[in-house]
Amino acid sequence: MAIDVQIFESEQELDRKAAEWLAARVRPGAVLGLATGNTPIGMYRELAAMHRRGQISFAGVRAINLDEYVGLSREHPESFAAFMEEHLFRWVDIAPEDRHIPNGAAPDPVQEAERYEKLYWEIGPVDAQVLGIGSNGHIGFNEPGTPFDSVTHVVELAEATRIANAPAFGSPEAVPRYAITLGIRNIMAAREIILLAKGASKAEAIRRTLKETPTPEVPASVLQTHPNVIVLLDREAAKLL
Ligand code: GLP
Repeated sequence: MAIDVQIFESEQELDRKAAEWLAARVRPGAVLGLATGNTPIGMYRELAAMHRRGQISFAGVRAINLDEYVGLSREHPESFAAFMEEHLFRWVDIAPEDRHIPNGAAPDPVQEAERYEKLYWEIGPVDAQVLGIGSNGHIGFNEPGTPFDSVTHVVELAEATRIANAPAFGSPEAVPRYAITLGIRNIMAAREIILLAKGASKAEAIRRTLKETPTPEVPASVLQTHPNVIVLLDREAAKLL
């Protein structure tokens, strides 16, 4: 099936559409696959507002996040656990025991990846998966070259990723070297996927994702082989299509 690509004139329209898409899938028992990064912040803000207005309840929903930095505890302000707390969890009624993120502070990251893989299949597969995209085409922290059949694993972050994520840490060297991420097989097991991209820095990755033959060199290009994907873009991210 062809991927449904939608282009928006304003960031707010994109955020609202993404929030509506996810909200329509929120029901008791639903499993949501959640992502971090700057891109989905507006969507989370909209969802929090919908919850505040009494339009949605997350009661009975289970959330499973894509990834976490190795070496950061959930209290670390740049951990993805702290991100989720700040941008979504503190504002909505997902039960604390139903919020899942790899433990970046686990003494043995490989063992933690194995635990998270098992957990993924106990809870999942995911009903609705939210994805951003790296400027190198990564999804979650599946960097270029990751096999399409990969499962949850410890990854050494690409230089491009550490540079892209440096502002939050002060310098690329301060960005953790490793992360734990769901694999591409986990992401592809989701029933439905929404990919969000904003800004010119994502334009080339989006072009390759949607227009080139799927290749592990552009991890997001695997989405062409998924039956149910929607892609929301702003004008800048769509400019090379
Ligand atoms: C991160 C995350 C991805 C995210 C991507 C883009 O580091 N692991 O899940 O999609 O990089 O982030 P941003 O939305 O900030 O551009």
